[in-house]
Amino acid sequence: MTGPPAQLLVTGGAGFIGSCFVRDVLARGDGTRITVLDKLTYAGNRANLAPVEADPERAARLLFVHGDIADASVVGPLVDEADAVVNFAAESHVDRSILDPEAFLVTGVIGVHVLLEAVRRQDARGRRVRFVQVSTDEVYGSVESGHSLETDALAPRSPYAAAKAAGEQLARSYHVTYGTDVVITRGSNTYGPYQHPEKLIPLFVTNAIDDQPLPLYGDGMQRRDWLFVDDHADGVAAVLDRGESGAAYNVPGDGVERPNRAVTEAVLATLGRPWSLVRSVPDRPGHDRRYALDGTRLRALGWAPRVAFDEGIVRTVRWYEEHRAWWEGRRDTDFRAYYERQYAWRLERSAQA
Ligand code: NAD
Ligand code: DAU
Repeated sequence: MTGPPAQLLVTGGAGFIGSCFVRDVLARGDGTRITVLDKLTYAGNRANLAPVEADPERAARLLFVHGDIADASVVGPLVDEADAVVNFAAESHVDRSILDPEAFLVTGVIGVHVLLEAVRRQDARGRRVRFVQVSTDEVYGSVESGHSLETDALAPRSPYAAAKAAGEQLARSYHVTYGTDVVITRGSNTYGPYQHPEKLIPLFVTNAIDDQPLPLYGDGMQRRDWLFVDDHADGVAAVLDRGESGAAYNVPGDGVERPNRAVTEAVLATLGRPWSLVRSVPDRPGHDRRYALDGTRLRALGWAPRVAFDEGIVRTVRWYEEHRAWWEGRRDTDFRAYYERQYAWRLERSAQA
């Protein structure tokens, strides 16, 4: 986007990656103003925006609205004021989608539809509003070899990934059918500060700090290319600013694939905790074995990841060590009920990994 400082509507901006995007964009100090619309599900947390709210100049450029992207009466007036919408809002945890898929579809499909309709109304008024749909590498399904290109067929394999694929296909259909200015990002597995402790890295860091077992699914040889959260936010910003309308962009990690066992070893080594905490537990159903992205298209926009995993994992582990109150607050009644449902029977059937 070129021209005067933008007014962005960032949906899901109180979550892990969305809040990083908000913190990083406001820290640029270029006058950009942001409205965050967030439902504050169990994964959303206003404290993720506290660093912005502590700085009077940045705080003056941030407005927080508590609401649902599937609610047209909330979305419409906010899109009226926006130059662009960046949609991070989603139910984001694969394991929860296997237990209870419905919320994934409501936010991931109906919510995206409501946002797109509000954007399309602006076009009808002669005001072009860019729509960024933040999607995921999981839409390609499990990739046994090679690297996914943006032109590859989508083959999602979990309810989470299917909802994400549906959301981005709907967005793309608005570009094709109505000429809506849509761009899509497909990010790799992301890690860093402020990630909810249900996900692999923060779960293993926080459990290890408390000397609790680390439940490693299956043989632990599933491979991911980990992406530091600020690099993911940068990739979304590059696509917002310079992405070609109608195109999708992969956002890969540092290019070094790691099996979950190696990630677990790195967490334990950084904390100085023993491998004996690790339990091999029954696998996630339909577990994708490998994701790998080709990042050529995004690199052509001038983006490159800055944080290698070996540096990022140390920064992440130290952040959790220093922010115990933050993650203890996330381990609320809902989380404990989820943890029991997801892990109690698995840990009963576990073996030394
Ligand atoms: P998160 O679960 O930490 O945050 C999601 C945010 O969306 C929360 O603040 C939540 O309150 C909000 N939200 C959920 N439903 C909403 C609704 N109906 N209306 C308004 N707000 C709602 O997720 P995350 O890890 O930050 O992921 C952000 C986006 O990036 C998601 O779309 C996800 O699919 C995608 N993504 C995540 C990763 C990853 O590794 N975490 C990788 C690639 C893509
Ligand atoms: O690839 C991008 C995706 O990465 C995003 O779209 C999702 O929103 C995000 O949650 C993440 O999905 P994953 O399923 O890959 O992430 P998760 O942290 O849940 O798991 C990472 C790997 O670790 C995966 O192979 C499953 C494994 N795992 C996970 C948990 C929670 C375990 O072995 N044990 C666990 O307890």
